[in-house]
Amino acid sequence: MKRALITGITGQDGAYLAQFLLEKGYEVFGLIRRTSSPNFWRLDYFGIKDRIHFLEGDLLDTESLNLAVSTAQPDEVYNLAAQSFVGTSWKQAVLTTEVNALGVTRILNAVKHFAPKAKFYQASTSEMYGNSHLNGKQDENTPLHPRSPYAISKLYGHWITINYRESFDMFTCSGILFNHESPLRGIEFVTRKISDGVARIKHGIASELRLGNLDSKRDWGFSGDYVQAMWLMLQQNQPEDFVISTGINHSVTDFCEAAFQSAGIQNWKQYVVIDQAFIRPAELNFLLGMSNKAREKLGWQPKKTFEQLVDMMVKTDLDRLSHYKK
Ligand code: NAP
Ligand code: GDD
Repeated sequence: MKRALITGITGQDGAYLAQFLLEKGYEVFGLIRRTSSPNFWRLDYFGIKDRIHFLEGDLLDTESLNLAVSTAQPDEVYNLAAQSFVGTSWKQAVLTTEVNALGVTRILNAVKHFAPKAKFYQASTSEMYGNSHLNGKQDENTPLHPRSPYAISKLYGHWITINYRESFDMFTCSGILFNHESPLRGIEFVTRKISDGVARIKHGIASELRLGNLDSKRDWGFSGDYVQAMWLMLQQNQPEDFVISTGINHSVTDFCEAAFQSAGIQNWKQYVVIDQAFIRPAELNFLLGMSNKAREKLGWQPKKTFEQLVDMMVKTDLDRLSHYKK
C-alpha cells in the first residue's frame, strides 16, 4: 500500500485528491493546522474523514513538518497548503510569503532529511504568468511576470522546487495549474461567490450580487479532473513540470450569464452590482493555458466542460441553501 502525505487536505484540492488516492488504495496522511473550529466540511462531503491519518502541523513551523514527514514516511508528498486567495495577498503580503514561499522550503527540507526517496508535488499556478503570454496563450515556456504578492510567493515556491530537483537529485514536480473550481471551492473565489449568490437570489434570501472586474478572463476547469494530473506527474519515471488547463477561457461576465441561466433567472444584469471593493490593485486580464505537454506525456485531459461545471456548482448551492427558501 502506497503512502501519501497531503498538506492543505482541508482545502478544495486536498479533499478531491484525498478521495482520489483513497480510491486508488493509498494510505492517506493529511497535515492539518490547529484551529479553534475544525474545518472538515469538504472531507465530510465525500464521507472520508475517518479514513485519513491526521498529523498536526503548519507550513510556518519547521519542527511540525519534520515530525509529520518522519511519521508518515510517505512515498508521495503533495504540497497543496497555501494562503491561496490572491485578493488577501495584498493585505497580508508577509504572511502569504511566509506560507507560500518559505513554507515550500521548509517542507522540502523535511522531505530531504526524513523521506528523501519520496516524490514531491508543488502546487504552482498560472498566476505566475501575470499578463505575460505568447500569441495570447501560456505554456511551460512563457516568461513569468507575477502581478500579486500571492503570485510572487508562488514563483519562489516554483523555483525552489526546481532547485531541489537540480541540486539534490530529488523527485520534485511543479504543476502549473490554471484556475479550477468545484462545489467545494472557497466562498470568496469568484466562481463560488457567483454560484452561491445566484442560489441566494433564486431562493429569495438575497437581492443582489456584488462583484469587481467582470471583464477578466480565466481558463476554468474542474478540481476533480486536475488532481488526477497531480498524481500522474508523480507516476512518471522522470520529474518534470507541467501546465494543466482546459485551453478554453471565459470572462466573469460569461460565468455570471451561465450561472443565472442554470438557476432559470432571466435578466441577470439587474442583480449584479459593481463594487470597487473587489477591484484589485493589479489585475490579470486573461489566462489561457496550453496543456499539450500534459496531454501528450501524461495522457491527461479535462473531462468536465465549462457549462457542466457552472451547472454543477449552481445546483449544489441551490440544494445547500434550499432550507432557507422563503
Ligand atoms: P484552498 O481551498 O484555499 O486550500 C488551502 C489549504 O491550505 C487549506 O487546507 C488550508 O488549511 C491550508 N493552509 C493554509 N495555510 C496553511 C499553513 N500555514 N499551514 C498548513 N496549511 C495551511 O486552496 P485550493 O484551491 O485547494 O488550492 C490548493 C493549492 O493549489 C494551493 O496551494 C493553491 O495556491 C494552488 N492553486 C490553486 C488553484 C485553483 O484554481 N484552485 C490554481 C493553481 C494553484 P485551513 O483549512 O486550515 O485553512
Ligand atoms: N474573488 C473575486 N471576487 N474575484 C472577482 C470578483 C469578486 O467579487 N469580481 C471579479 N473578480 C475577478 C478577479 O478580479 C479575477 O480577475 C477573477 O475574477 C478570478 O478571481 P478569483 O476567483 O479570486 O481567482 P484568481 O484567478 O484570482 O486566483 C485563483 O486562481 C489562481 C490560478 O490562476 C486562485 O485559486 C489562486 O489560488 C490560483 O493560483
